[in-house]
Amino acid sequence: MEAARALGAYYTPAELADPMTRWAVRGPGDSVFDPSCGEGSFLASATGRLLSLGAEPRRLSDQIAGVDVNARALSRARGALLSRHPGLRWGRLAQDDFFLFARENLGKLTFDAVVGNPPFLRTQGRSVARKRLELETAARGGISLTADASSWAAFTATACGFVRPGGRLAMVVPREALFVNYTKPLLAMLERRFASVNLMALEGSWFEGALVKVALLLCEGVGPGVLRLHEAGRLGNLEELVEAAPAAVPAASWVWSRIPGECRTAAAETLESPHLAPLTSMASVFIGVVTGEKDFFLLPTGRARELGLPERWLLPALARPSHLEGSTFTATDLALLDRAGEACRLLAVPTDYAGGEAGLDAWLASGRERGIDRNYKCRTRSPWYSVRRLLPAPDLLLGYLVKRRPRLAAGARAIHSTNNLHRLYLSEPWRSSAALVAAAAYNAATMLSVELLGRVSAGGALKIEPGDATRVRLIHPELLGRVPRAATAARAIDRALRDGRDDDAFAMADDLARRATGWKARDLSRLRRAQQALRDARLR
Ligand SMILES: C[S@@+](CC[C@H](N)C(=O)[O-])C[C@H]1O[C@@H](n2cnc3c(N)ncnc32)[C@H](O)[C@@H]1O
Repeated sequence: MEAARALGAYYTPAELADPMTRWAVRGPGDSVFDPSCGEGSFLASATGRLLSLGAEPRRLSDQIAGVDVNARALSRARGALLSRHPGLRWGRLAQDDFFLFARENLGKLTFDAVVGNPPFLRTQGRSVARKRLELETAARGGISLTADASSWAAFTATACGFVRPGGRLAMVVPREALFVNYTKPLLAMLERRFASVNLMALEGSWFEGALVKVALLLCEGVGPGVLRLHEAGRLGNLEELVEAAPAAVPAASWVWSRIPGECRTAAAETLESPHLAPLTSMASVFIGVVTGEKDFFLLPTGRARELGLPERWLLPALARPSHLEGSTFTATDLALLDRAGEACRLLAVPTDYAGGEAGLDAWLASGRERGIDRNYKCRTRSPWYSVRRLLPAPDLLLGYLVKRRPRLAAGARAIHSTNNLHRLYLSEPWRSSAALVAAAAYNAATMLSVELLGRVSAGGALKIEPGDATRVRLIHPELLGRVPRAATAARAIDRALRDGRDDDAFAMADDLARRATGWKARDLSRLRRAQQALRDARLR
């Protein structure tokens, strides 16, 4: 069972495989291929469909082909097909790794319909060599996927190379395909390759033992064509669902398709406004300290004392974006976290430490016993226990992985962070404006830019990579500084965030933005709707 799970083996029920195959297989002579056929759900559907279209039973085994890496699943597929159609030869079922199969056969074999449900395996847990094979094979098909792409993307891209020009591709993909950034190059390639590309999210759970929500990818014809994304909801007649799909959107701006139509122009124009500047024009961004083992290097104060770790090497540090409750982080906040027993002391032993602190020596010995010195980040530094790139404590901290709203807080000058929070250093003229910059960042335009730049993780959280963070669009501090009583507004925003009154905080930040820029309240409310539509879509 475990081995099957490691291969992403969730077999497709006939209720899903049948309509997809019916859509993809259109004539009695069609050839059909499933690149990860498992126990043969799609191949069985295809056999039934071809026979109903009047295919000749004798020719069926030449029309249907499948590959799977799992020998046992494949023999079940063969058994199932033979029990339904005794006397047929099923010579076109191959046990192989699809990517190796593709290296041999791309350009030599094509099919009228390529159907299936590829393995959904995330990047973690797949070896570097495995990922390289997948990305290189996809690249041979003219698509350069990013390293964070889940396995289904490379699978689908490669499977595409087996569709004959004018043929159909029908694949089950995870629902996250509609949101995650790594899908963009795939959609752009499909849009070039096919006349019509439909990505439709389905309601409900389709796979026993897997909570994953799915979407259907249906491509046909000769491109370049159009891309349509939508929430189909219930599975019905696929021709009708495809017909009912909304207007096409170019792949390059597919995230925008999730923004209500009436908000798009205001959103696009405002983001280009000269009142906004990229973060990089006013601050430098560094990731937080990479410890190599958070629980070892980050401790609650009480625990550090118990262990007898030297106070001078225990720096105040945060490791959770949710600890930034307001738009400021103060000494009182730290004291409260301390009192609550939260781990917020970073053990920062200097590289020239030669031993002699009894408590510390015992803690380091326990770390070695637990094998922490062999963890990836620890073994690549010398000595393994001295964390690197401490840097001075930053002006602002920005959460790396966030759910409902970004986390940006000022006043953190005495606080370090681990790599769950980026460290921001404002350029000299703006250092004294950190609290204002952070409070104003909760305005709709900045929050929308975060939604557009962030990468949506499978659970719907937004990852803000350091490179993307530099492009977040902020209201220029100079404009903010000119607003009468801006500091009072910033404090009110901070308080509202801390009280969990997010909507009040956002309304005040929008008002601050309006006074700083002269934007119309109507446009700001469109921007807010746009930002919330993106947020709700990823969290749904
Ligand atoms: C989600 S299941 C779907 C199986 C089948 N298409 C269905 O819909 O019932 C994914 C299948 O991919 C197979 N698989 C995983 N990695 C593979 C690879 N590199 N090459 C070929 N098949 C693979 C697994 O053995 C599993 O049968």
